[in-house]
Amino acid sequence: MVEEKVLVLDFGGQYNQLIARRVREQNVFAEILPYTAGLDRIRAGNYKGIIFTGGPNSVYDENSPRYSKEILTLGIPILGICYGAQLMAYLLGGDVTPSPAREYGKTEIVLSADSKLFNNVTLENTCWMSHTDFICKLPEGFSVTGKTDNCSCAAMENPSCGQYAVQFHPEVMHTPQGSIMLHNFLFDICGCRGDWVMSAFVEESIVRLRTKIGDKKVLCAMSGGVDSSVAAMMIHKAVGKQLTCIFVDHGLLRKNEGDMVETVFKKEFDMNLIRVNCQKRFLDRLAGVSDPETKRKIIGEEFIRVFEEEANKIGTVDYLVQGTIYPDVIESGVGDAAVIKSHHNVGGLPDDIAFKELIEPLRDLFKDEVRKAGVELGIPDDLVWRQPFPGPGLAIRIMGEITEQKLSVLRDADAIFREEIKKAGLDRDINQYFAVLTNVRSVGVMGDGRTYDYMLALRGVTTSDFMTADFARIPYEVLDICSRRIVNEVGHINRIVYDITSKPPATIEWE
Ligand code: XMP
Repeated sequence: MVEEKVLVLDFGGQYNQLIARRVREQNVFAEILPYTAGLDRIRAGNYKGIIFTGGPNSVYDENSPRYSKEILTLGIPILGICYGAQLMAYLLGGDVTPSPAREYGKTEIVLSADSKLFNNVTLENTCWMSHTDFICKLPEGFSVTGKTDNCSCAAMENPSCGQYAVQFHPEVMHTPQGSIMLHNFLFDICGCRGDWVMSAFVEESIVRLRTKIGDKKVLCAMSGGVDSSVAAMMIHKAVGKQLTCIFVDHGLLRKNEGDMVETVFKKEFDMNLIRVNCQKRFLDRLAGVSDPETKRKIIGEEFIRVFEEEANKIGTVDYLVQGTIYPDVIESGVGDAAVIKSHHNVGGLPDDIAFKELIEPLRDLFKDEVRKAGVELGIPDDLVWRQPFPGPGLAIRIMGEITEQKLSVLRDADAIFREEIKKAGLDRDINQYFAVLTNVRSVGVMGDGRTYDYMLALRGVTTSDFMTADFARIPYEVLDICSRRIVNEVGHINRIVYDITSKPPATIEWE
């Protein structure tokens, strides 16, 4: 169990996850709860500190997210950010009012030398603002600790009650010294020790899983993706061969991917991994199908069937492992429904698999932390740093009907593109990059002859959440090498285009 934790109380701000990640970067565990979480739950959490997030509302809106004033009497240090700062002022009897001009973007700020929150921070500084309302009257006991040209109370505090508030956003990189401020809050004000480190988390998780599982049997559907690989590895370290992993190779993986997964987990780590080679079965089911949604549906259904058949051979298991991660389980701050990402849940498991309990060893971790855990567990970098790959795989990167030949062309082209991006040192900067085999054929010329062959598209995006994305500015020189190599080394492609649309309006995948 994590002993030392901080609560990020979510009022619907767009940066709630970022705040939690910034706290965790300081080796303090942060948990996000919606503003609808009851006071008892917060009391029981034994938090060392609470951060009120920003939010899109005005504290005076009838339906704005509020919290009972009692939270301010728990004796737990609180940092209010943006809307959270205004809410703090409002709850404590201060006043908030709309300003005639919205303050947005990088803003010069003057901070007070007397505030613990600004220890080691340059007093004439820059911060990121995004607000219309501002605190026009301070609650009793508070003093102003930061001012901008347009905001007479850009920071305020009442240190005797451990209450601090900033109108700006210390969590974004546009507030260059924001992480020092968060550090000051966590360590100097909340008294955190900062002992949440990945190596300890992994070690403790393994011990806990070993105790929990005892001599029971565990089953894992391994897609080969980062999350399920790391989850499986953790369980493997805890209970070894009591874990059986089923790896359904539907033949829609990237070049050498299935072999790589098998080599690493079965041969190198001696995991009990069953690779089900059912490439033909999937291709047969997909023959003649060109509608993207139908492809997805067929692959999803077939995956479940294969998994079921294999699981039945094993018989009843006690536990089923899933690579659920924190962003999938965070409850939303706006409304109290738990938001579970069902986005493209291909590869979902059958409902009626016989098992007693679900184990989700990564449900507290953000994606970058899952990768860190993977490294701690000894999974090779190439696997840990793989980009997201959709469940239906290359099937949704081949426009129209899927054939063995098209799959082979796409695999080779995609492998060259990925190799060159890595060679250029861009693989960690571009969040997802891949090739798409379009259904368009066009005229070309090679040697003295006319060709009539496929057009390949290259796609690269930068994104933090995959819900929006920008097309990656890959240097022309790199694209040039990719284009030449692909046309020369892979047959049936005589034209290559680079996708320069962002999301929205386009999606990341082409189907
Ligand atoms: P889009 O194309 O919707 O993709 O912009 C956003 C992210 O989701 C991935 N994706 C999928 N993942 N099954 C998955 O497991 C799918 O059917 C699927 N479709 C898209 C996509 O690769 C990107 O990372």
